[in-house]
Amino acid sequence: MSNERPAGVGRERPDMTPDAFREAARRTAEWVARYRETIEELPVLSRARPGEIAALLPVAPPEEGEPFDALVDDLDQVVVPGLTNWCHPGFFAYFPSSSAPPAILAELVAAALNQNAILWRTSPVATELETRMADWVRQLVGLPPGFRGVIQDTASQSSFTALLAAREAAGVDARVRGLAGRDDLPLLRLYISDHGHSSLEKAAIAAGLGQRGVRRVAADPAFRMDPDALERALVEDERAGIRPVMVGATIGTTSTASVDPAGPIAELCEAHGVWMHVDAAYAGPAAMLPEQRTRFSGWERADSIVLNPHKWLATPVDCSLLLFRDPGPFRASLALTPEYLTSDDDAEVNLHDYGLSMGRRFRALKLWFLIRWHGAEGLRALLRRHIAWAEAFAGWIREDPRFTLAAPPSFSTVCFRALGPGQRRPAPDAPGAFDPEAGGEEADALTRRIMERVNREGRVFLSHTALGGRTVLRLAVGSYLTREEHVRGAYEALGRTWEVLIGS
Ligand SMILES: Cc1ncc(COP(=O)(O)O)c(C=O)c1O
Repeated sequence: MSNERPAGVGRERPDMTPDAFREAARRTAEWVARYRETIEELPVLSRARPGEIAALLPVAPPEEGEPFDALVDDLDQVVVPGLTNWCHPGFFAYFPSSSAPPAILAELVAAALNQNAILWRTSPVATELETRMADWVRQLVGLPPGFRGVIQDTASQSSFTALLAAREAAGVDARVRGLAGRDDLPLLRLYISDHGHSSLEKAAIAAGLGQRGVRRVAADPAFRMDPDALERALVEDERAGIRPVMVGATIGTTSTASVDPAGPIAELCEAHGVWMHVDAAYAGPAAMLPEQRTRFSGWERADSIVLNPHKWLATPVDCSLLLFRDPGPFRASLALTPEYLTSDDDAEVNLHDYGLSMGRRFRALKLWFLIRWHGAEGLRALLRRHIAWAEAFAGWIREDPRFTLAAPPSFSTVCFRALGPGQRRPAPDAPGAFDPEAGGEEADALTRRIMERVNREGRVFLSHTALGGRTVLRLAVGSYLTREEHVRGAYEALGRTWEVLIGS
């Protein structure tokens, strides 16, 4: 076919031929393989300054197409300097999110196939594979068959969708009547602990409950929601005419990975007729381990659960699994099919009914590749290694008078603080020997300085949180490429930096 264009229309570039595509794909795959092989030579946290990457980019798009090689070259020149390397084995900040090779390759295929699973008809395979993958994960984490699921982009979206369903289930009828201008509606309430994730608060903002509609329930000294405090809050609100809509229990809170007691919370939700949502975005995969299962006890009574394979299960962002028992309230809140999408297939599952997005990408493919390539045993081994290394790290901190544990180590997460010379810490073997306030302000300053310096060195990246108003460092093991030596390296970097700062 000729690429000749009428005068003034400009020159069009010929399509990439299949052979040119093969060559470009080989080059790109080689680049990716080298990136992963040499990732340790890069700093974990990007050293770019604000605007520095933008300055490398042309202000205007190119008029003429460029050779593919130039694009790959710019991965090194433009992209790498601006990367915070989430797949780096020294990534211990927040909750790590990394990608395993089979899942990376599945993403390439997903882009090539470009399925859009709006309706069953628009992609029978993306629809049915997604439904089956949700069920595989359900089985892996030991939830009963009553649960089904869909894959959303993020836990934020999953929790938001669940809150909309809960709002319908609470009889608000926001679907038809909206919220604005109604004088029949009481204040609607979402309950989360002091340590519940901001995504739930954001969901409340977006769902019209507002921040005023979020009640933070006190946590106990181990950072778990206190069921007695929850009960008091529910009773008090009901007496005041406030309508409870949802309780969000967290298994694996963001600061300390603490576990809200799902059983007693389920009890209260059932007694008060309130929707129970479990945010297990980070820790959910650990339910694959029989030895961790008791920590999840009671979550099977929830109405909805979110867990993110894209956090601790080596699946590239975005892959968040929303599991629920009754599809009714989800459909009641969001199912809406415009005429041009209606068909005789309406009996089939149409995934766009379970979220805000109409277009939905083929996210299940990466989970399918990941689970099949590793097998359930392989994934369990990955999680077990991470937990064992986090426990080893906690042990080193426990034995080291320069540091103190600030919260009970949980799953693969350890919270700790640095102490100045001679500062007292709780006896390491005493039960409940966790004091996030040990060392006071002086320890806060030292902890921050150590974190900043260690992160600047680039071999590891740790993040902080506040507990009891004090600064606490977190180490979360969860990156696919991490080995014990990297965890040890983090501990040694912390100790070395302590010596430098205290000695200077
Ligand atoms: C407990 C918890 N829930 C929810 C989220 C939000 O996850 P996402 O980025 O997938 O929205 C996070 C993020 O770290 C989290 O730690």
